[in-house]
Parts: sequence; C-alpha cells; structure tokens
Amino acid sequence: MRVTIRYGVIALAITLVVVLAIWPFATAFVSQWAQRDVEMRSQMLFNAARDQVLSLRAPEDGERLAALMERLAGDEDVLAVGLCEGGDLRLASSGMPEGFSCEQIAVGAGEVFTRADYAGIRAMVAAYPLSAPAEDVRFVILHDYADVEERRSQARIFLLLAAIGVAFGGAALASLVAFWIMRSWTISVRRAIEDAREGRAEDIKHTPTEIGTEIRAALSELDFARRSIDTVHTEWNPETLRIALANELPGSEVIVVSNREPYIHNLDENGEMKVQRPASGLVSALEPVTRACGGTWIAHGSGTGDREAVDSHDRVMVPPSNPSYTLRRIWLTDEEQEGYYYGFANEGLWPLCHIAFVRPVFREADWRMYREVNERFAEAVVAEAKRPDPIVLIQDYHLALAPRMIRDRLPDATIITFWHIPWPNSETFGICPYKEEIIDGLLGSSILGFHTQFHCNNFIETVDRVIESRIDRESDSITLKGYEAFVRPYPISIEWPPAAMEGQKPVPEARKAVRKRLGLPEDVQLAVGIERFDYTKGILDRMHGVDALLTAHPELIGRFCFMQAAAPTRSKLANYKSLQEEAEALAREISERHGGPFDAIQLVARHHDPEEVFELFRAAELCIVSSLHDGMNLVAKEFVAARDDEQGVLILSAFAGASRELGEALIVNPYDAHAMGEAFYWALTMEASEQRERMRVMREQVEARNVYRWAGQMLLDAARLRKKQRIMRLIEKERGRAQDAHQPQASLPQFRSERIEAGAGWADGRVGDDCATGDMGNIMDRQHG
Ligand code: F6P
Repeated sequence: MRVTIRYGVIALAITLVVVLAIWPFATAFVSQWAQRDVEMRSQMLFNAARDQVLSLRAPEDGERLAALMERLAGDEDVLAVGLCEGGDLRLASSGMPEGFSCEQIAVGAGEVFTRADYAGIRAMVAAYPLSAPAEDVRFVILHDYADVEERRSQARIFLLLAAIGVAFGGAALASLVAFWIMRSWTISVRRAIEDAREGRAEDIKHTPTEIGTEIRAALSELDFARRSIDTVHTEWNPETLRIALANELPGSEVIVVSNREPYIHNLDENGEMKVQRPASGLVSALEPVTRACGGTWIAHGSGTGDREAVDSHDRVMVPPSNPSYTLRRIWLTDEEQEGYYYGFANEGLWPLCHIAFVRPVFREADWRMYREVNERFAEAVVAEAKRPDPIVLIQDYHLALAPRMIRDRLPDATIITFWHIPWPNSETFGICPYKEEIIDGLLGSSILGFHTQFHCNNFIETVDRVIESRIDRESDSITLKGYEAFVRPYPISIEWPPAAMEGQKPVPEARKAVRKRLGLPEDVQLAVGIERFDYTKGILDRMHGVDALLTAHPELIGRFCFMQAAAPTRSKLANYKSLQEEAEALAREISERHGGPFDAIQLVARHHDPEEVFELFRAAELCIVSSLHDGMNLVAKEFVAARDDEQGVLILSAFAGASRELGEALIVNPYDAHAMGEAFYWALTMEASEQRERMRVMREQVEARNVYRWAGQMLLDAARLRKKQRIMRLIEKERGRAQDAHQPQASLPQFRSERIEAGAGWADGRVGDDCATGDMGNIMDRQHG
C-alpha cells in the first residue's frame, strides 16, 4: 500500500510541474481567445448593420440612423456606437463615453481594434471603414472591455481547476495501476514461492509468464545459495531433508543397507507378534531419515516373527503405525551369523577399531562367511534397485566389502558408506590379515564417511600404508581401480525433537515415578547410564567412579543412587558374557561395601524402549557416558534432547566422538576413577543456573546439528558429485565425438586430469564458473574439520 501511495504522490508532483510549465502559454492563449471572441462578435454586428448604415447616410435620414444606432448599442457587451466622418463624431448612440474622439482611432485600410479607457470605463474600440480612405467615414463600435477581462479570468479559473483535476485524477490512476501491478507481482511471487516450497521449482505451473520465469530463476539461485549455507545455518528437519532430496536428487532412489534392522518382529511366549525398536545408535539415527526420504532399507531379519511379517518378496512396509518405506529382510543361517556377525564383525573388526584393549580375533572361516554375507547384501541391493544409478547408503563395519561388490554390479550407483565406529591408526589396523580386501571393498564407495576428521585422517593414512592407490591430500580423496572415493567427516546425531519426547510426563512427575519404581526415596539424587552391555562403553569404569565418589563423600550414602540400564547384546561372545557377569558382581560389591538403605548401584540388564529411556533421562540429576572409545555416542545427545527443563548434567568421556560437539558436558577420562568420582560430585553439587547455561548450549548444538543435517550433508554432497560426474561424462562424450571426427584435440576444453580437476574443485571450491557445485566441498571441509 505504501508503494501505491508513493506512486500516486510522484504522479501528482509530475502533473503539477507540467501544469506550472505550461501555465503562461495557457493563460496567453485564453487572453487571445477572449479578445478574438469580442472581435468576432463586433464584426458580426457590423456586418449585420453595414448596409442599413450606408443607406441612412443622407442628412435627412439622420433620425432613422440615430434610432438604428441606439438599437445596435443595446447589443450584449456593446457600450456605444458612433459614426466618424473626416475625424469628427457625426452621430453617436446615447452611451458614448465622454472623452471619446474620432481622432484617437488609428486609421487603417480595414477594420481597426484599439484599447481605450474613458474616465474609468474600459473599452475596446472597433472602427470599420465605410468609404474610400480619402473621405474617412468610419463606423465605430465600443465594446465593454471589463467583460472581456472577466471572461478571461473566468477561463483562467476554469483552466486551473481543470489542471488540478487532471493532476489528482492522474495521481489516482497511477496509484491504481501501481496497485494492480504490485498485486499481480505479489501473487506471482507468492505462487512461485509456494511452488518452490512444494518442490516444484522445476515446474512452476502457477507462474508461466515471463515474471514467473524470472522469479523461478531468482528463486533457484536463492535456493542454491541457501542450500550452500544450509549445512551450517538451516533448520534441518524431515521437511527440509525431503526438499533437499527432491531438489538436488530429483527422482532418485534411496536404498539403505545395514546389518541391524529398524523394526524387529518378535513372537512373545503366547505367540503374539510384538514389534521392537532395537537398542542401536545406527537405527535411532537412520530410521527418522529413512522415514523422511522413503525408499528401501535392506537389513538382516533377526526377529522370531520376522518371516511371518514379510510378503513373498521378503518385504514389509514400516513403521507399523505409519508405513512410509520398505524394509527388505535378508535371512541368515546360524552358521552365517556366527561367522559374519559374531565372528568377523564383532570379534575381529569391533575390538580392532575400538581401543578397549580387547584382543581382536580373526578366523579364516569367519572371513569367508563375512565375504559371502556381504555378497548377499550386494545382490539384494541389485535386486531391489529400480534404476541403474540408485543412491545406496551402506552402514557400518558389518558391510565393508559391499561397496566394491555393488560398484562392480551397478557402476553408476552413488554409494555412500558410513563407518559408525572409530577407525584406528594405521599401525593398529595393520594387524588385520584382510586389511587390503577391506580397504578395497570400502573404496568402492563414492563417499566414505566417518564421525570425525581424526578418523578420516586415520583411514587415509591406513590406505597409504596398506595398498597402492592415488591419494589426493588436498581433496581427501583416494582413487583405486579408476574410481575416486571421497573421505569426509559427518558427525552423526539424533532426530530433533526426538519422537520419544512425545507424551513424556513433566520432569517432577518423571522423577517421582522413576524413584518409586526403583524403590528410592523422593529426595535421592539419581545418576543414570544407559546403553548396550558392551565393553567399549566403560560400564565397569563408571562403577569405579561411583565407588570413588562414595569413598570420598560418604555423606552421600543413602542420598545418591546410580542406575545402570544395559541392554544385553552379542551375549554369545565370551567377552560380552563375562562383562555382564563382572558388572553385576561389581555393582553388588560396591553397593554392599558402602551400605545404606538401598543399593547405591542398581543394574537393570534388559532392553528399554525409547520412551522408558527418555523418562529415566528426565528423572535423573546426571547422565554418565564413559565410553573407553566411541565413534560418536548418541546416548549423550539423547540425554541433552530429553532435558527440555534445561537441568541435569552430562558427564562425558573424552574418547567419545560426542565430546567434540558437547564441550559443556563434564569431560572425563574413564580410565581415571578418582577424576570420575570428582566429576560425579561436581555434577551433584552444581548450581541450577550453571546447569541451565551448560544444558542450553548443548541443546542448541544438538538441535542444529541433528540427524537430518547429517543425512542432508551426505545427500547434498552426493548430488554435487553426481552433477560433477555428469559434466565429466559429457566432456568425455564430446572428446570421443571429436576424435571420431578427426578434430584436433585442442578444440576441446583441456583438462590436466579430469579426475583431479573435478575432485580438487569439488573439494576446495576452486572450480570455475562452469561448475555450480564448487563451494560444497569447501563447506564440508571447513565445518567438519
Ligand atoms: O556403534 C556402532 C553400532 O553399529 C551402533 O550403531 C549400534 O548401536 C551397534 O554398533 C550395533 O549393535 P548391534 O550389534 O546390536 O547391531
């Protein structure tokens, strides 16, 4: 509206300036017109009377002439008429002003008009010759000049009013036109934005006009700019992830591959089907992402009711409450599971990659099984792929060989492999008897992701030591067998807000309910630890920390309890079995030694559903994550996400990837029991205001760097890579055509090396204008660094 008014005022000002500029000409024209009007009427009067005057010139007709002249003088605007002969006034009508003299009238061959004033009477004298000039007989008509002037000023007023009217009318019209134009622009822009929001950026049906095209172009540029900074600033959520996917990878097919399935169908003791969400960081991260992207998730069907739940193609739509993607199950025999999962993956690679001082075990039979099962997964990907170039998201150390196997079968696939556990230094990895094959398998990926830059560096160093390949340290890429894989850090996270927060009781109620369930007085301070029963998690070490706390601060006995919720996992393996036994014994021993009205350490060894886990988080004063070594650790992030009251303290191991992001936690060395005891005490005595400050910063961090951002970064990077590859393919084609036509090579764009040129630009933003994707790698490098 303000714009419309502005246009109106401008139009008004312009019109007024124009009116002022033409005003002198307009008034002169009006004067002339008024004068001319009197003259014309005078002439008409004379023409009508001329013959009669001539016929009455004889002296005897004097009376009749006088009567005629009186009649003529009665005409409108006429003051008087007279007859001049030889310079004397022979006869005049009665109104002839005193002082009139025939001699004052200019003489001419034709009629003559003169202005004259006679004692306050303003007149215009018209003189008409009636004879030859020698005789000098003239008929004079005196017109009232005041009338002329009055008409002139009336005309001026009219002109002024008309100009003002035109000015205001023009302004109103200009405002109206401006309003209409602005309105249709606004509608166009709104529709274009709507289209863009709904992912129809390529096909803006509402704005097919030129304006629409312009807007679309501008929007897509803006959109690109936005997405270029997205990874840093944008609020990532399922919707933005979906939009990113639709815009950047339109029509693409997403296939997730992991060992662990996101939903396990189990039959309970009554034969009833129960659906369980496994205790797996991988699943809690990937599941919301797959829900947002749709597609297919291929995983091992490990539940007792899994076979019953699938269709004839081993597929079932999940989540059960709101199906949005396909879960394709792979069946493994006990023998396969023994060798592939328990053996090679969890007795070999798991302890190899985690510094927990558990010796890895490598058996040839396990390795064979691992290879075979990886083949099975690769075949399933090929069978599920509907297009030759799907985006395949391979998860974790169970499937290290699958990327190469898939690459061999689907050369155009974009394979993103994410390694959820740490990658050790090259010396440590060097003890693996199958290191070359594992690295070769992983380098079938287009992008290989780790949680931290540190693990990326370890991987590149390992490749350098283990196999012959081309390593580009500037772009962190490795080329093997003619295919380039980019190594990138992508810190994994959780969904925000977490689904498990839905329906949670307020914190005071959760505190009450949990203390009641654990048989604790209401004022007891509670610490929680929640994870799989795994030796890498430092469960025993934190118990030693509790022991140190109670030894140093015995006043806390009966006022503090540590509750460890641990989901049994990989229990077939001796290390896991013994850990559980050892933990149970240690919990008992510490509780007994310190005494008190209840056990100071309560160990609950069972699976907890996410809702229960979040209730525990909300009920506790502190949460401890004391991993001896961990890729990321999502429990730490979940605790932060659970505390919407901004209270509670996180104690976090320096050896968990999460400590890089959650610096406001109390960072501890889990090997130092005394320091952990001190950290417990610090957490229990921390002021509410300090808790709030720390928690607020951590919550902001987890909210912004959520799992949609994690997936979004990988998918946007994949999109950049695909575009880059498409350009390279076009150049190859063009070059081939030129060669066929025997054209000199120099006529084509020259590339020092297609790979290096593409890779370096993609990674560090040095790509020329021909590449719209140049800055992505730049962003990736900086923000993960
Ligand atoms: O930490 C790596 C990881 O793959 C997690 O994502 C997951 O929680 C766990 O290991 C695997 O557990 P499981 O053997 O029960 O699938």
